Amino acid sequence: MKSVLMTGASGGIGSAIKELLLENGYKVSTIGRGDAQIVCDLKDSKLLAKEVEKWLKTNAVDILINAAGFGLFDPLESTKPEKIDELISVNLTAPITLSHLCLKKF
Ligand SMILES: NC(=O)c1ccc[n+]([C@@H]2O[C@H](COP(=O)([O-])OP(=O)(O)OC[C@H]3O[C@@H](n4cnc5c(N)ncnc54)[C@H](OP(=O)(O)O)[C@@H]3O)[C@@H](O)[C@H]2O)c1
Repeated sequence: MKSVLMTGASGGIGSAIKELLLENGYKVSTIGRGDAQIVCDLKDSKLLAKEVEKWLKTNAVDILINAAGFGLFDPLESTKPEKIDELISVNLTAPITLSHLCLKKF
């Protein structure tokens, strides 16, 4: 049985992917802020790396799906820099961190 590790499983795209994977016999483990195997806010890339490294010591992964993310749609001048930092952490740093960790296991 192929083992999938994924983010964004509670969201629109991610939950549809998760459902399809489960229907097709994959084992799915999730990373997220709520009900997840690895509970972590993707804003915190250091904690993410620590938690996933720990999880990978006792769990196999064949496929990584980075489905979490969000968009910022306000004009740049009214968007707080902290929100842009968060966007970069969640949409860019987290997928790179997870890819880096999982590639070592593929
Ligand atoms: N839907 C589309 O048509 C579409 C098209 C192009 C691109 N996209 C992009 O694809 C991505 C996913 O879209 P979607 O429609 O599935 O979005 P969504 O329904 O809003 O779901 C977003 C997912 O990302 C998770 N997430 C967001 N911030 C997080 C954080 N800090 N830590 C952990 N998890 C976090 C959410 O978890 P929580 O439940 O904890 O919030 C949720 O599972 C987004 O970046 C979106 O901009 C979407």
